[in-house]
Amino acid sequence: MCGIVGYIGKRDAAPILLDGLKRLEYRGYDSAGIATLSKKKFHIKKDKGKIADIDRKLDFARMPGNVGVGHTRWATHGAPSKINAHPHADCHGKLVVVHNGIIENYAKLKKFLKQKGYRFISNTDTEVIPNLISYFMRRGKNLEKSVRSAVEKLKGSFALAIISADEPDTLIAVRKESPLIVGVGKGEMFLASDIPAVLKHTNRIIVLENGEMAIIKPSGAVIKKTKSGGVVRKRSTKVTWTAEMAEKGGFAHFTLKEIHQQPEVIKNTLRVPRAELEKLAKFLLGAERVYLVACGTSYHAALVGKYALAKLANLSVEAVISSEFQESCRANGKTAVLGISQSGETADTLKALRIAKESGARTACLTNVVESSITRESDVVCYTHAGPEVSVVATKTFVAQVTYLLLLSVYLAERRGMSKSKICKLIARLNEVPDAARAVLARVEPHIRKLAKKYSNSQHIYLIGRGIGYPIVLEAALKLKEITYIHSEGMPAGELKHGTLALIERDTPVIAVVPPGASQVRMVGNIEEVKARGATVIAIADESDDVKEHVDEFIPVPSTEELFSPLTYIIPAQLLAYYMTVERGQDPDRPRSLAKSVTVE
Ligand code: M6R
Repeated sequence: MCGIVGYIGKRDAAPILLDGLKRLEYRGYDSAGIATLSKKKFHIKKDKGKIADIDRKLDFARMPGNVGVGHTRWATHGAPSKINAHPHADCHGKLVVVHNGIIENYAKLKKFLKQKGYRFISNTDTEVIPNLISYFMRRGKNLEKSVRSAVEKLKGSFALAIISADEPDTLIAVRKESPLIVGVGKGEMFLASDIPAVLKHTNRIIVLENGEMAIIKPSGAVIKKTKSGGVVRKRSTKVTWTAEMAEKGGFAHFTLKEIHQQPEVIKNTLRVPRAELEKLAKFLLGAERVYLVACGTSYHAALVGKYALAKLANLSVEAVISSEFQESCRANGKTAVLGISQSGETADTLKALRIAKESGARTACLTNVVESSITRESDVVCYTHAGPEVSVVATKTFVAQVTYLLLLSVYLAERRGMSKSKICKLIARLNEVPDAARAVLARVEPHIRKLAKKYSNSQHIYLIGRGIGYPIVLEAALKLKEITYIHSEGMPAGELKHGTLALIERDTPVIAVVPPGASQVRMVGNIEEVKARGATVIAIADESDDVKEHVDEFIPVPSTEELFSPLTYIIPAQLLAYYMTVERGQDPDRPRSLAKSVTVE
């Protein structure tokens, strides 16, 4: 969940590393640091805090050297502090390491190294790594062999970048589960945890796979199996993302930019080729039981998929939170498991797919990141084309996942005999959604800003919805709690009376999501229920509805097909979360304690 960058070439490494770290800050931001190597001497600057603040204090860019590594941290072992920040050196000052992941057996290794006279200064698991490599180098092995011997001894999941004062023309990268990519330049090479960090310099990348290492020189990289040392022949892949795609583009925050990109993202996703849908259709229809596994926002998209597949294609699937899959599901040769993950690196989802595979199930994935780890766990690979999502909170990738699953549901409905006229009507209505999303953005923003001012000091917010409104309120509540830090709870409106109603009192804000359809009348009943207890009700509802008469604040959304409503109804909720966060003086792009890809279980 931390971010790693590396550079080797002719240019000054530090400014390149600093820029890369800023682009990776969504992966962790409790501390940051850079190490460069010049004339066989290390220069290390690091501290606790956000990169921009540390840079103001330490001035990273002035560090000398044409090779270096950098790190932005999301603490696991050891509190955020200057001493625990990466890079970490060995106690002889000959090696520097940055690390993403967890070393499970670090305590045992630390004890062993201490007995051999090695000294430690931090509370991290990472510090054993440079010392262990040093231990092997001092026994006469070269850098590459020492790294391999050390990695043999490490248990856990990790990505490493290593430089040595004894071999200054080499940067070594190791991947065991945590992601790493090598960026291929002309006479210079880059290393990063994620693609956006290198896009400014190159769009040619090599994705390191589990159990691989890269021995990187300015002229190129040799990829080897870490265990055997055998060379793996790999070509670089050209990615279609551009550097501008990973910039703020005039918006105050990435969150706002990504919310505004949604109409375009929906439009792009609607272009998924039929051949790809057919692949996934075969995968699902050939199974006796289907699970959609995912976490967080991707799980909410999976829930929308569950409703749409049932209603449109008469296909029963279970949406399961990945970390619960092992406990609550059984898979066998007749099971199909579709993992949904924006990053393609979420440890819980990867594990669920692995368990499914081991039980004989077939697996597929829907991800936004080309060649991410999930693609290697899946028999069928499908992509959302939302472009890079930089903000820690998922917005545009949610609508991309939902659009994909809706399109798939319509395709399956056709496959399962729905009449041509009904299919044509559904497709036509789906094609109207990008404009409807654009209209929501154009119309509601000023109103939402006022609401944000009014409600930004709330202690609790409750969100209610029925049917397809239920996954919408779950996702809306997640957005609110992630960035505003206000306790927000989304639930099926029908569940209120079974307990939560006791918490509704005078002026408690309740957001009611009321898509068109049969459940509307019952939703109005639930609105009256909370109003009778003194709640202030904000409704997100069809513009032509009479829901308006029953509520305190009304946010109108253009009419759409009931099942397609998550695509437009989520937008006012995302904007409300964003503006309330700004109102509270917090950073919506970098919520406390969260990281973009959660690569630990
Ligand atoms: O990359 P993934 O889609 O697998 O990530 C899953 C969750 O970690 C992610 O959706 C998380 O809940 C976001 N912070 C939501 O905004």
